Parts: sequence; structure tokens; C-alpha cells
Amino acid sequence: MSKSAYEVLETELMGQSFRWLVTGAAGFIGSHLVERLLTLEQEVVGLDNFATGSPANIEQVRANVGEQKSQRFRFIEADICDLDACHEAVRGADYVLHQAALGSVPRSVADPLLTNRANVDGFLNMLVAARDARVKRFVYAASSSTYGDHPGLPKVEDVIGKPLSPYAVTKYVNELYADVFARTYGMDCIGLRYFNVFGPRQDPQGAYAAVIPRWFETLCQGDAPQINGDGETSRDFCFIDNTVQANLLAATSSHPEAANRVYNVAVGGRTSLNELFHSIRALLSVSNAQVLQIEPVYAGFREGDVRHSQADISRACELLGYRPVYSVDQGLAVTCDWFLGLKR
Ligand SMILES: NC(=O)c1ccc[n+]([C@@H]2O[C@H](COP(=O)([O-])OP(=O)(O)OC[C@H]3O[C@@H](n4cnc5c(N)ncnc54)[C@H](O)[C@@H]3O)[C@@H](O)[C@H]2O)c1
Repeated sequence: MSKSAYEVLETELMGQSFRWLVTGAAGFIGSHLVERLLTLEQEVVGLDNFATGSPANIEQVRANVGEQKSQRFRFIEADICDLDACHEAVRGADYVLHQAALGSVPRSVADPLLTNRANVDGFLNMLVAARDARVKRFVYAASSSTYGDHPGLPKVEDVIGKPLSPYAVTKYVNELYADVFARTYGMDCIGLRYFNVFGPRQDPQGAYAAVIPRWFETLCQGDAPQINGDGETSRDFCFIDNTVQANLLAATSSHPEAANRVYNVAVGGRTSLNELFHSIRALLSVSNAQVLQIEPVYAGFREGDVRHSQADISRACELLGYRPVYSVDQGLAVTCDWFLGLKR
């Protein structure tokens, strides 16, 4: 069987080291990017201000890759709202994987100024710094929230609606700025519209935690998870390893049509919250049958949430060679093992 584009890329990277800047390196997605890059013997600079990320994630990465590969990693504690820090971090970088931002729709509804500062002001700083450093490519975390109120399914990159939250506005503004920087300064940018990424190290704590880690945590504690709405709200949940694959392919793709576009990054499926609840509960019940007694509590629909989300991933498949390897169920199984490991 012929190798996938990602397998070919991994082999190439093992033979040639580049310098990567990963912002948001202490967060969920950023820490996985750093780990994969270090495993592939790349030079990595990570930047984070620990707004929502944690030093424990960095320590976990170092432990997972080992002492020797950790020597190729430099961590800078800094805020992307500080332009000098952005310039310092990006110096000498070949590629930027920009993940630092404040996630969560409800957080942005509660404090739009705070979200705007990190997601728009900070983003613009990173673009300027990457432009000045003449990086080969600037890959950034965009979001499926940009589809907003457009009802069409599956979501195709060029057909978007109106944003439904301040967070969605910031992520759309990122795309507009990246496009203008490509036209005005000849930069090479790619936006990856993530659709509900999940996996180990995703923070289960706090009011703004994502649904999958929150439900693992709640069920492990013997409590009933809350479902906002009737549970038929659906999402295209995407395991972290698929997201890492998309980033590395996006940074390095030499396809002549690949640059200066946005791409959906997901699996191309749709899972309702009710289905998700049953999958998580079934996985946890293997080690603790009592969770099968727990039923979810239904509450009102949440402000700013879109009803259904499902990606058309054909653009990423065609132009980047993206092939998601993990299904939702396979990803949930890995995530479950990680959560149970934490509880031991
Ligand atoms: N997880 C998802 O499902 C999802 C979906 C769509 C888009 N995204 C985007 O992906 C990116 C990464 O998300 P994540 O899920 O890993 O979240 P995360 O909160 O775990 O990671 C974000 C990281 O950015 C850091 N950060 C925030 N503001 C910063 C600032 N001003 N300066 C420096 N660092 C800062 C945080 O401390 C954190 O470590 C974000 O841009 C997010 O908007 C995520």
C-alpha cells in the first residue's frame, strides 16, 4: 500500500530539521504540536502566557519525548499582546503554528474585550512579527464558529454566515487579516478551521471547559453531566492527532494551490450530544459499572451556539493530503484511557 502524504512528510522531517514557533504551546492543541515536532527531531520554540494553558502540559511533553529531544525545545513565557516578545519568539523560525488565543464562546460573551485582545490584537502582533521574520508559512488556528448562522451542511469553506458570538467575530477577523497580509506583504498564510478538537490534556476544569473533558470529569466524579438543549445538537468532533496531522501538512505542503486559503479540519462526520454522552458513559462503565446509572440533566440552549456542525473536508484532503486517521470512537477510547490514568 502506498504511503500517505503525512507518512511521507514524517520521514522527510526526520531527515531534515526546521525551526518551528508554536504559540499557545502550554495549551491543549499547542502542546500536542510541540510533542509531535520534537518527536520528529525538529527545533521548537514554544510561547505561552499560561492564561488557560499550564506548565504541567509542558512538563508532560518533556517527559514524553525524553531528555535528548527536549533539548531542541525552548519555552518562552510571554503574552502575544507584547509585540517585542512576538518578534523575539519568531526570530529564525521557518514555520509558525499560531494557536494562542482565548477559546470558548461563553467566555467571549461574558468578556468580549478580553477575548478580542488575545484573539485580534495578539493575532495581529503575531502576523506582523512573522512578516518581519520572513517565515516560510504562517499557519493559524481558525474556527468552525466562522460558519455562524449559515444553515448549510456539510460546511464548505467558501460559504459562511454571520458570526453568532464575539469569539466567532475574532476568528473571522483572523482570516481577513491573514488574507490581507498575503495580498499586501506577500506572506504565505493558511488558516485551519478546527471543528471541536478533543483528546488528552484538554482542560476539564472551569466554566469554559469543552464538553468532552467536562463530561469525562463529571462522570468520573459520579455526577450527572448537563446537556444544553435537547441533546440533538451535533458536532464534527475531531481527535487531536488528526489536527496535528493537518497542521504539519499545512505548514509544509508544496501544492501550488495550497497557500493562502482556509481549510476545514475535522473528520467529516456528525455526533449528537446524546450519542456522545452514551459513548463516554459506555467507555467509563468498563472500569466502573455504576456510571451506567447516571443520566444527563437537560438545560436550556446556550447563547451563541450553532445547532449543527459538520465539515466537508475535501479541500484539505485534495490540497494538503490530509487523511484523518482517528474516528471519534477511537479518539474517545484514547482520551478515556488518559482520564482514567489521571484518576489512578
Ligand atoms: N479546541 C477546539 O476545539 C478548538 C476549536 C476551534 C478553534 N480552536 C482554536 O485552537 C487554538 C488552541 O485551542 P486549545 O483548544 O488548545 O485551547 P487552550 O486554551 O488549551 O490553548 C490556548 C493556549 O493559548 C494560550 N494563550 C491565550 N492567550 C494568550 C496570550 N495572550 N499570549 C500567549 N498565550 C496565550 C493559553 O495560555 C493556552 O495555553 C485556539 O486558537 C482556539 O481558538 C480550538
